[in-house]
Amino acid sequence: MTVKPMQTPVFLVGYAKQLEISVKKIMADRQQVVEPRLWDAMSYALLAGGKRVRPALVMACFKACGGTNESLAMPAAVSIECMHTYSLIHDDLPCMDDDDLRRGNPTCHKKFDEATAVLAADALQTLAFELLSDMDVSADTSLALLRRLAIAAGAQGMVGGQMMDMRAEAAGIHNVLEVERIHLHKTGALIRYSCEAGALLAGANEKELHACSRYGEAVGLLFQIADDILDATATSEDLGKSAGKDEAQNKATYVSIEGLQRARELAENLRAIALEACDNLLEKGEDLQALADYILERGQ
Ligand code: IPE
Ligand code: IPE
Ligand code: MG
Ligand code: MG
Ligand code: MG
Repeated sequence: MTVKPMQTPVFLVGYAKQLEISVKKIMADRQQVVEPRLWDAMSYALLAGGKRVRPALVMACFKACGGTNESLAMPAAVSIECMHTYSLIHDDLPCMDDDDLRRGNPTCHKKFDEATAVLAADALQTLAFELLSDMDVSADTSLALLRRLAIAAGAQGMVGGQMMDMRAEAAGIHNVLEVERIHLHKTGALIRYSCEAGALLAGANEKELHACSRYGEAVGLLFQIADDILDATATSEDLGKSAGKDEAQNKATYVSIEGLQRARELAENLRAIALEACDNLLEKGEDLQALADYILERGQ
């Protein structure tokens, strides 16, 4: 059964445009002081497209918790996109998933070379922290964001999940709970952090922060299950990255363990859990509901 992808919500397109303007400004400010080839590779990876879902989650949670001044939250949105882009550059390297295509373009190591790609990714990671440290918020909020991002991105989060993913590839995993653990780390941690960051920047209370965190955990897992489904069902042209890689590389995914039909059912359940979490937000969180739909029904 082919499922027609959902159109990108208008507000997501709007946030993506705002984000790209901010990224260009941040990179332009650094052009004179960064080694030119490194600057080119960082800019290439950051501006080569991308759905910008994590920045939109920051903004939507910010709004759902009563935040109004979007320009206050934007540096955190750029920061998470830098962190995510670094993770993609490393994920594509020959020693990891060995991919040639990303966001409809040659991967960073194909366009430049491996050393440049590794260094551009390293630099994007530290830029993510630099941006958080320079926000127009209290020192307490800044520190909370820095700490949460460090944990979400590092050995207890995304990097830990990538290690589990690589080991599962070699070991051949057959247990769905093990795949859930991998996905919650490699993809879920940064997505949950994005939601928590939006809430913290809006000055959310405990209940709101918890709701965003719960929503983020559900859509984080949902995001990777949808990615697994797309890898098995979509074309490389539609995805802007090589399709069919998971089976070819013996990856542990929901599709490989549970099959396509069951993976879709589990994804539906997660969307329901995510939407339930939105009920606990004072503001309606309509954008969060639309984002959960988009994360499940997207076409790339
Ligand atoms: C791809 O992330 C990597 C995964 C975690 C599945 P995205 O699907 O958000 O990639 P871009 O940013 O839109 O290119
Ligand atoms: C990547 O998962 C998760 C990251 C931490 C980057 P995948 O390896 O499935 O992502 P794609 O399919 O290459 O985008
Ligand atoms: Mg991978
Ligand atoms: Mg990959
Ligand atoms: Mg994938």
